[in-house]
Amino acid sequence: MTSLDTDWATAAALDAADPLASLRDEFELPPPPLGADDAVYFVGNSLGPLPKRARAYINDEIDQWARLGVHGHFAGSSGWVDYHERLVDSMASLVGGLPHEVVIMNSLTVNLHLLMVSFYRPTAKRHKILIEEHAFPSDHFAVESQIRLHGHDPAASLVTIGPKPGAEVIEPEDLIAAIDATGGELAMVLLPGVQYYTGQVMPMPEVVAAARRVGATVGFDLAHAAGNIELSLHEWGADFAAWCSYKYMNASPGGVSGIWVHERHVSDRELPKLLGWWGTRLETRFEMRNEFDPPDSADSWQISNGTALPMAALRASLEVFEKAGGMGPLREKSLKLTGYLQFLLDELVGDRVESITPREPERRGCQLSLRVTADGLTGREIFDRIETAGVSCDWRHPDVIRVAPAPLFNSFTDVRRFVEILDQATSPSAAT
Ligand SMILES: Cc1ncc(COP(=O)(O)O)c(C=O)c1O
Repeated sequence: MTSLDTDWATAAALDAADPLASLRDEFELPPPPLGADDAVYFVGNSLGPLPKRARAYINDEIDQWARLGVHGHFAGSSGWVDYHERLVDSMASLVGGLPHEVVIMNSLTVNLHLLMVSFYRPTAKRHKILIEEHAFPSDHFAVESQIRLHGHDPAASLVTIGPKPGAEVIEPEDLIAAIDATGGELAMVLLPGVQYYTGQVMPMPEVVAAARRVGATVGFDLAHAAGNIELSLHEWGADFAAWCSYKYMNASPGGVSGIWVHERHVSDRELPKLLGWWGTRLETRFEMRNEFDPPDSADSWQISNGTALPMAALRASLEVFEKAGGMGPLREKSLKLTGYLQFLLDELVGDRVESITPREPERRGCQLSLRVTADGLTGREIFDRIETAGVSCDWRHPDVIRVAPAPLFNSFTDVRRFVEILDQATSPSAAT
């Protein structure tokens, strides 16, 4: 990015040359707060904005409910009974899975539990789970409770790996070394695809290879990876993954989650699972028999009937991803957008900001996690100033501001505006 300039004209030129720029019109972006000239929505890593077409699609389902009542379940191509099947190809392509490896159901932590029922099967010798030291708390709790559920003690069975002392991110070789060192005692590895706090992309293919080499199962929490970076789940060959759809996938607050289970497991009838009627084949489900008759697909992990309204929001968002041409073009823009942000921060804000996200583009997604300082102001005060000036971003305890320029709806001008606001909020006169 050496030929870039810091002026506003460069931002405008980059927007004019951006083949995905028009996708911004697909979204309703929150307006600026009172007193701010413009809004910058940099928090799609927490809750993606509303895709405009979601209003219509959700309304369609509401109308169908009003018109058909219960018969809406079986309204042919718009019936709710197999709604998720209409979304699964598109969802699978975003995570690099095969359609029969993917299903859309429940929420993320619930799904992690259901998948651990299948893929965490400790024995007296092999009972350990490896996670990161600063795993998202929900993952940490889920793993601890799974260990206890099997009669083990997290003090003995939970292995955590963190950055080296004084470092911010985990070095890939340390991760692999921890897997190797736990060896025959390691039952399962559960890691994020992208770390929520630092924005670090985890070395997923290498982790899969290492875990499988020592005989452990391996799964990924893709909350911050799905819709953010390119994924090749099938090719990498992990056992399972789960993600939410409300972050980079813009599919409504608490929106429905996705799971992926490798093809080699989908027809394994011996794998333990928590069962429900929705895990049986649709063809026989309504015969109300008591023999579990699962399909040879990830659908057999379903328990309850699907949620049509959140899926309608997801349908809207997935269509926008398709319009973008999928993750390839989006990642290409994302690398430019976040690279431009890094460049402007270096040039204009300098040592008042420290990014704890890896600098190498391939080791990060959209997000930069920033520690900011200014004489006489705390990081939290700077964050409040940025928000007041019209930037939606987020504060993560203890001292990080996360900003995530998302290629679906953010522009280079957004990035330029954010840096201007950050520069003003941290400049020597800001505290007065
Ligand atoms: C990495 C990660 N894992 C798990 C969760 C929990 O998701 P849910 O509340 O949908 O179960 C989140 C939520 O933000 C997350 O960021």
